[in-house]
Amino acid sequence: MEKDAYKGAVGVFDSGVGGISILRGLVRELPHEDFVFFGDSANAPYGEKTPEQVVDLSRSIVQDLLTAGCKAIVIACNTATSAAADELRAEFPEVPIVGVEPALKPAVLEHRHEHVLVMATPMTVRLQKFQRLLAEWGGEAQVDAVPCWGLATRIEQGNLDRPDVIELLRGLVGDYAGKVDGVVLGCTHYPYVAKQIRAVLGDVSFYDSATRAARQLHRR
Ligand code: DGL
Repeated sequence: MEKDAYKGAVGVFDSGVGGISILRGLVRELPHEDFVFFGDSANAPYGEKTPEQVVDLSRSIVQDLLTAGCKAIVIACNTATSAAADELRAEFPEVPIVGVEPALKPAVLEHRHEHVLVMATPMTVRLQKFQRLLAEWGGEAQVDAVPCWGLATRIEQGNLDRPDVIELLRGLVGDYAGKVDGVVLGCTHYPYVAKQIRAVLGDVSFYDSATRAARQLHRR
């Protein structure tokens, strides 16, 4: 990116199209800000790499966005937040860096003693950040977390109305059909297949990461 090409903008990035679901919320909540979005589709999926690879990819994107003059960064990716937010904040202390996390808290607070399913990438489910969140809030409801292998990759490919998407979802979460009340969309790609998830699981309510990121950025 050219030096100062996006001076004063908020830089938003994800491994691909998922971050656009966060960007939409940012634009709605903060309409006076300028945003520049980078979707690293060439390197997706992040959730099936190693944390070290995701730190390296994220660092290089943040460096580019800062060279382009961005005044703040939003990591519009649960996986990159889990793997890299602490490192990025330590390396670039001069800019606010806002991340996202699976919306487990609002889900369990609305479904106390009911059944909540968390769908996220294998890396997000495995890393300490989510395990801590689970330890903090998991006692309020019956919570199951499913690592959704292949789902972000399939969403990157588009044509989401094709039957193979439902087949993939059946393989991942079909066992929970009719048994869950709330579903946490713990990857920013997943809101694009909310309709298909409902077709597999039944009438569930969804919780995604969009609203909180905008509020946090607003506070900084
Ligand atoms: N959109 C990213 C997230 O929120 C991950 C997708 C991927 O695996 O690349 O976790």
